[in-house]
Amino acid sequence: MMQTVRGVHDILPDEVAIWQFLEAKALTIFGLYGFTEIRSPLFEKTELFARAVGATTDIVEKEMYTFADRGGDSLSLRPEGTASVVRSFVQQSLHRQLPWKVWYRGPMFRYERPQKGRQRQFHQIGCELFGPVGPLADAELMAMVMHYLGDVGLQAALVLEINSLGCLACRTPYRALLIAALRQAAAHLCEDCNHRMERNPLRVLDCKRETCRATVTAAPIMLDHLCLGCRDHFYQLKGHLETLGVPYVVNPRMVRGLDYYNRTAFEVTSVGLGAQNAVAAGGRYDGLVEQMGGTSTPAIGFAMGMERLVLLLDRQKILARGMDVYLATLGASAENAGLVLAETLRRGGISVELNLGGGSLKSQMKRADRAQARFTVMLGDTEIEKRSVIIKDMAEGVQQEVARSEIMDYLLTRL
Ligand code: HAM
Repeated sequence: MMQTVRGVHDILPDEVAIWQFLEAKALTIFGLYGFTEIRSPLFEKTELFARAVGATTDIVEKEMYTFADRGGDSLSLRPEGTASVVRSFVQQSLHRQLPWKVWYRGPMFRYERPQKGRQRQFHQIGCELFGPVGPLADAELMAMVMHYLGDVGLQAALVLEINSLGCLACRTPYRALLIAALRQAAAHLCEDCNHRMERNPLRVLDCKRETCRATVTAAPIMLDHLCLGCRDHFYQLKGHLETLGVPYVVNPRMVRGLDYYNRTAFEVTSVGLGAQNAVAAGGRYDGLVEQMGGTSTPAIGFAMGMERLVLLLDRQKILARGMDVYLATLGASAENAGLVLAETLRRGGISVELNLGGGSLKSQMKRADRAQARFTVMLGDTEIEKRSVIIKDMAEGVQQEVARSEIMDYLLTRL
């Protein structure tokens, strides 16, 4: 039997409503903040990710799906969305149209060890904002993430964690300090961390092994070594979040698995997810556009893992959204009239499941239940003669005769 590749899943029809719900909310909520959607290619030149995400990151070193195409070019399936958006920004010379605000959704690919909340093909909804340099943008973006998560019904279970990763000026001396401290503690660090220490020392702070975690508690933290500009940026950001009433905690040990970040980094975590607890993550990347050959432009963004959101959502509540109306018909002329009535109601924005032929009233009421209809509209010969219908409120169990000309109004005021 043929099966999906390990770490890759179908999204089956009875699950798809949740995904559509999450995407529709993104369109609405991000739209309120002026973001429009961008659709980037699923694969790019490998070099794009190596340069943007960082050649020494786990993502680029170990996790990319990389292949040579028939022309011999090295291509990779996108492991994340930011690199393509930045490439697009540079390619289209969009620095003339700031601020540029885009969101995206779609599959990403990483060869990771699959576990709960971690797949090899997974889906992100992300946003990127180009132009603003100050912390107002950081605060607004975080408020937007929390607005989105609250609106889909999740905020209560989540924590917004923030940190500053400094800039080139203050991170370089900090990095040297950190390497020195890690070298001293090398005997207590795992093999991976010993390997990471010289090339990507910040990642050591993020190791999940207990002994490493205990060892790095004594290591210097970036927040104590920020330059004046970075310190001020972080201080103001916290002030803006407080003004907005967005709760946060400072996590000085948060590092990100991608190299492009500077200053603000943030994650939204959930206790309900186990080890893979980040549902959203992002930060500033003020140097990336220039590094990719564009006109220097500050930027900030984030991405949410859709599988993780789906795991946390009350799926019953979302999937329970049934049809507005089940239209039951009895007899040939009622079937004919029903066809027209269903179409009229749908054009008025009411969802209708129409009886597509035959069946007793009893069996049709069962189908109405299965369609989770709010109302059943019943149409038989008597009603056709009287130019009316019977409408049953399925929750209340009461029914009422309504004139044909009044049906639309009757339903719209009650839905
Ligand atoms: P990231 O932290 O690598 O950042 O991924 C963002 C989110 O995608 C994670 O917090 C998680 O929810 C989800 N995710 C990542 N890997 C997997 C996986 N293997 N399975 C399931 N979910 C996963 C980025 O990708 C950056 N591009 C975010 C960003 C945008 N920063 C600035 N702009």
